[in-house]
Amino acid sequence: NFEQSLRPQRLQQYIGQETVKDNLSIFIEAAKGRSESLDHVLLYGPPGLGKTTLAAVIANEMGVNVKMTSGPAIERPGDLAAVVSSLEPGDVLFIDEIHRLNRSIEEVLYPAMEDFCLDIVVGKGPSAKSIRLDLPPFTLIGATTRAGSLSAPLRDRFGVPLRLEYYGVEPLKEIVIRSATLFEVEIDEAAAVEIARRSRGTPRIANRLLRRVRDYAQVRGDGSITMGISKEALEMLQVDSHGLDHIDHKLIRSMIERFTGGPVGIDTIAASIGEESVTIEDVYEPYLLQIGFIQRTPRGRIATRLAYDHFGYAVPEGRT
Ligand code: ADE
Repeated sequence: NFEQSLRPQRLQQYIGQETVKDNLSIFIEAAKGRSESLDHVLLYGPPGLGKTTLAAVIANEMGVNVKMTSGPAIERPGDLAAVVSSLEPGDVLFIDEIHRLNRSIEEVLYPAMEDFCLDIVVGKGPSAKSIRLDLPPFTLIGATTRAGSLSAPLRDRFGVPLRLEYYGVEPLKEIVIRSATLFEVEIDEAAAVEIARRSRGTPRIANRLLRRVRDYAQVRGDGSITMGISKEALEMLQVDSHGLDHIDHKLIRSMIERFTGGPVGIDTIAASIGEESVTIEDVYEPYLLQIGFIQRTPRGRIATRLAYDHFGYAVPEGRT
């Protein structure tokens, strides 16, 4: 499908995240030069920045297969045993949302990561026994939106921890142009910049907006994406000049109108707008922090004067 084909296959095609790419290209080349598997990699950062894509790129660069699973999908040690025992030497095992692995699975994972072996208990009660399975050397790539939620022993077993950052407008613009080229639609540079500016530093959002603007251009225009078409489409989509959507709006407005701009606790905000606290913390808050609309204080979150301004509220006396 198209989502798949937008994903870059090689490090060379991967736009942005220069520090991450610089690091990876060295470690990949070194591991290949020694004919070894790459050390385990932890990718962390906000959703939509390309963790899954990067895992597939790493596997491609290493010339190995990738098996994809997620923390919540591995419920019992046997589930983990089933995936790791199907790996070929050097393969990548990708575990998304690795912070959601339960502790009993983590215990099984430690020797798998360190010594490439699995100790699993078979049977129950007095006849239960532990058997040791030897595994091929493999690379675990863990992805998480919250590195802080990983247990320290698990975090310490990743030789290559890499933090993905929000993308700037320039790399996002390049991604939009690249995707438009793959869609075979014409796009003005200014239109690409406009979509990039409203994508919250996130390629997944940029590509989603591009798809919708493409639809709009096809139906309301002649199919090519101009600045005018983009602005109309983005307005129809209710994406504002900072790329904030109606949940961001609800969040900020609630902080300002019901809690006098804070400080207010995350659980209180969550309850007041009917979202889950973890969704706010992982998805909405990071970008609002990044653009300086909210700040975290020991007593809770506060809306800054930038947020008051953007949403058209009078800035209260003394607000930073
Ligand atoms: N599509 C989504 N993310 C991308 C990236 N970082 N580089 C190139 N294309 C992408």
